[in-house]
Amino acid sequence: MNEAKFNAIKEALKYIKDGQIIGLGSGSTVELFIEELRKKIAEEGIYLGFVPASSMTYLKLATLGLRIESLDSYPELDISFDGADEVDERKFALKGRGAALFREKILSKYSKKYIIMVEDSKLSHKIGEKAKVSIEVLPFATRPVMARLKAMGANVELRNGERIKDGPIISDNGNYILDASFGIIEDPKKLAQEINEITGVIENGIFYENISEIIVGTKDSFKKIV
Ligand code: 5RP
Repeated sequence: MNEAKFNAIKEALKYIKDGQIIGLGSGSTVELFIEELRKKIAEEGIYLGFVPASSMTYLKLATLGLRIESLDSYPELDISFDGADEVDERKFALKGRGAALFREKILSKYSKKYIIMVEDSKLSHKIGEKAKVSIEVLPFATRPVMARLKAMGANVELRNGERIKDGPIISDNGNYILDASFGIIEDPKKLAQEINEITGVIENGIFYENISEIIVGTKDSFKKIV
């Protein structure tokens, strides 16, 4: 058990209120959070609905018998919870290792609150120190988009399946994912906008707005970036 991760999750559970419709991102943190949510529902008899950002999260919810809803039924969610690959003291985040960044960004935009939960090993001074920028791209436009990103100074790779799949991995939206390294990102908002201006880019993993709070778990406690 990663205690720092668990301490962030434990704090995030305090935001849960009976009757909420909750967006859930993707990844190991979210999976652990769902397990704790199930315990909370069983203990307190509360009624919650969930909108998953990925097939992974959907299957986890379905397996545990939790109520699955959609943005069609609930165009504005009460609150969403997510993990991240890297966060910084300025309240920026890099996301997308799990290839769910586009739908996660949608949840962040269409929720009254968007909470990120991470362990302290993912906290840096400025994002880009530890993680790369994930970029979802339309397969048809992969090579020209890569060329544009390289011209912007990035090291770019097409994400491959490695042991689990030969060739590029496919997102839940049927697209490819690029991993772009820009080094330390001084102006995340500007970079995010520049990336999204490249025709063929679906979305990038720089989260620079809509984050209500980042809960950073430590071995014994947590801190919040608000
Ligand atoms: C998926 C994500 C995840 O939130 C991020 O990769 C963190 O994953 P984990 O909780 O497994 O460390 O952005 O697209």
